[in-house]
Amino acid sequence: MVDRVGSEPQYEVFADEFLEHARDGLYNAHYDRPACLELLGDVDGRTVLDAACGPGLYAEELVARGAHVIGCDLSPRMVELASQRIPSGEFHVHDLNHPIDWLPDSSVDLVLFALAVEYVDHRTELLRELRRILRPNGALVVSRPHPTGDWLRLGGNYFETRVIEEVWSRGWQVRYWVAPLERAFEELRAAGFLIEQLVEPRPTLAGAEVDTERYQRLLTQPTGFLAIRAIPDPRRT
Ligand SMILES: C[S@@+](CC[C@H](N)C(=O)[O-])C[C@H]1O[C@@H](n2cnc3c(N)ncnc32)[C@H](O)[C@@H]1O
Repeated sequence: MVDRVGSEPQYEVFADEFLEHARDGLYNAHYDRPACLELLGDVDGRTVLDAACGPGLYAEELVARGAHVIGCDLSPRMVELASQRIPSGEFHVHDLNHPIDWLPDSSVDLVLFALAVEYVDHRTELLRELRRILRPNGALVVSRPHPTGDWLRLGGNYFETRVIEEVWSRGWQVRYWVAPLERAFEELRAAGFLIEQLVEPRPTLAGAEVDTERYQRLLTQPTGFLAIRAIPDPRRT
């Protein structure tokens, strides 16, 4: 059993396939993105860090809504795809297990961290970094696999925080952390965040035409993702 995900860019080999899959697919286009964009709220004129930006599907939408986007990802190919997609964005190859030393304190209004916290070994340290770079009135929006869905699929001890390995979609090999809900919340609290809103998203209606069976499942079972909006706790420095 492995006890860390490590810093190998797992998505590098299937970055282009991920783009194709996530652009219009049910889980990303009709489920995760609408939920997180709603939680981000009005981004016009705001500076947004898109942490683990992938191929830039979020960044594209954020720029279209008037945001200035800075993005980063561990995978060089993802950064290349994002840079091609959004020439006005600023994208960096960066491992989020390490300090974001290229961004000063209180320099961004919003941080988006979609579907990637589960790949990071040093999550509390990273969340502290995200708090450091956020302005005091800023907010962090995180989405992640729903712990109940993980447990329904994997079984075993729900309360055990552990690394698992799976094969997804077109044979993509992935290694990531699963953890109970309380652990996910504890990491945010320990890093100095207050949970402002928790959403168990439902797919948008248009998703029914993309994949009827999975659409029905997401509508009735917690087998997908969670989306959280958290703010820097003003009581903590
Ligand atoms: C499921 S994709 C999500 C991409 C994007 N946030 C989205 O929702 O469209 C996960 C992304 O996390 C990135 N990632 C994984 N581990 C990372 C790390 N340690 N530092 C930075 N990015 C990482 C991967 O390269 C991949 O692009």
